[in-house]
Amino acid sequence: MTDTVVNGPEPRARVRAMKEYHPPLGCRDALRLDFNENTMACSPAVREVLQGISADDLTRYPERGSVETQVAAALGLRPEQLLLTNGVDEAIHVLFQTFLDAGDELLLPLPTYTMYEVYASATDAQVVAVQAGEDLAFPYEALLEAITPRTKIIAIANPNSPSGSVATREQIVELATRAAHAVVLVDEAYYHFFGETVADLLDTIPNLVVARTFSKAYGLAGLRVGVLAGAAEAMRWVRRVLSPYSVNSVALACIPAAINDTSYLDWYVGEVLAGRAEFESALDACGVRRWPSRANFVLVYIGAKHREFVRGMSAAGVLVRDRSNDPGCDGCVRITIGTREQMRGAAVALEQVMSRLRREEDV
Ligand SMILES: Cc1ncc(COP(=O)(O)O)c(C=O)c1O
Repeated sequence: MTDTVVNGPEPRARVRAMKEYHPPLGCRDALRLDFNENTMACSPAVREVLQGISADDLTRYPERGSVETQVAAALGLRPEQLLLTNGVDEAIHVLFQTFLDAGDELLLPLPTYTMYEVYASATDAQVVAVQAGEDLAFPYEALLEAITPRTKIIAIANPNSPSGSVATREQIVELATRAAHAVVLVDEAYYHFFGETVADLLDTIPNLVVARTFSKAYGLAGLRVGVLAGAAEAMRWVRRVLSPYSVNSVALACIPAAINDTSYLDWYVGEVLAGRAEFESALDACGVRRWPSRANFVLVYIGAKHREFVRGMSAAGVLVRDRSNDPGCDGCVRITIGTREQMRGAAVALEQVMSRLRREEDV
């Protein structure tokens, strides 16, 4: 056999240059404060729908139209302004595939959600990174300055991960005005914990695109459902790239129940906001530096012992996420916020692990 046959056909140069991305999942049988998921469950109404799904339901190809109409109505939008996707990840992927060409620039404030860079690296566009300062606040002025005629997409996670920082509505409007030739993606994956949106501006700002997910507050990360909303014309282009069946029928059956059970959502968000306030006080009492967060997680500074901290918390039954490799986040760990009761448990683990690490430092 020749080498060519053994190695198989060569992928595109862009794909060869891509970094492999392995989410550190596996063995997560503990309190999962590492992936910003809902830490409890989805709405009981969704579980009821799941129990009623028959084998016959699974024989059909999924039909997304009527669910798209319902989700659009819940967001105050027209159906042609919205697409359901296989999580926001697919929304990002198809948006980039639709708009990013060779010579285009993707403007990316850093640090931010990893998958923007992953999906951009599969296109022929250039990533133009704009690093936030030490406060990790939204680098608004630097982004404005980085806009060029080649800017094609500006991707803004709002609130941002891993920092928890936010861009204001005025800043987003100004960016969309100054980059009227580009798509301004506002990824509102953590919207429910923040409570502010720009989805109401979609009718007036034609280059604005908003993403939402059912993976966080709704507790449906395993179902993989995201939302991409924007001008009808932009959504028509994206739909050409999107698989018509990428949102499966089980997911589609569950979404109406999820959006209608607002009391479950309100309860969970209330728990997280109260849990966040209590846990922030515990961090302050422990002398752990943190960044202000408007999401269901908080970024903390541990320093050189970040790995030991993550291991110590895990040994205490609490999984947290090392973000030390994110740009500007050396020594940082991100901790998802769950319910008040869960966060009280996490605070006990935090105190124990921090005092052990400090004792070791003294020796
Ligand atoms: C900012 C942001 N957008 C999107 C996602 C992924 O959402 P989904 O599960 O809908 O693909 C995440 C997940 O952590 C995120 O932090």
